[in-house]
Amino acid sequence: MTNRTFTMIKPDAMKNGHAGSIINHIIQNGFKLVALKMIGLTSERAGQFYEVHKERPFYRELVDFMSSGPIIAAILEKDNAVADFRKVIGATDPSKADEGTIRKLYAASMGENAVHGSDSDDNAKIEGDFFFSRLEQF
Ligand code: RTP
Ligand code: MG
Repeated sequence: MTNRTFTMIKPDAMKNGHAGSIINHIIQNGFKLVALKMIGLTSERAGQFYEVHKERPFYRELVDFMSSGPIIAAILEKDNAVADFRKVIGATDPSKADEGTIRKLYAASMGENAVHGSDSDDNAKIEGDFFFSRLEQF
């Protein structure tokens, strides 16, 4: 177990003005920001990031959505970061997410679900390194 995970605030939450509230929610839940940036993903870069989902029916829609506007990327630190952060964001489908989770509070649909959270320690490292150089990770 490592103590870091990776997150993105997705284009829907950025457009809807929820970025500040989401960052505050994350910090209030005990996560420390150790890397942070606002960035636009090209469809090529979004496609690389979600390459594991390449064969899934929603891949094209996901890539188009993730490249539709700026996102905020961040690396977060906390004991048991990956699993604890998945609890804080809630289920992929916001209508199935627990009360008080970020997706329940700020997301509208399965496709546009406000935030990303890494699903394993290995992927947290790969995803953090996808966005941040060594000098940008504190
Ligand atoms: P994420 O990777 O973004 O944190 O989301 P997740 O683990 O909860 O869900 P995952 O299965 O990894 O799917 C990645 C993203 O693809 C979109 N999706 N759309 N229309 C659909 O059936 C569908 N299924 C997944 C969502 O934006 C999901 O977050
Ligand atoms: Mg996932």
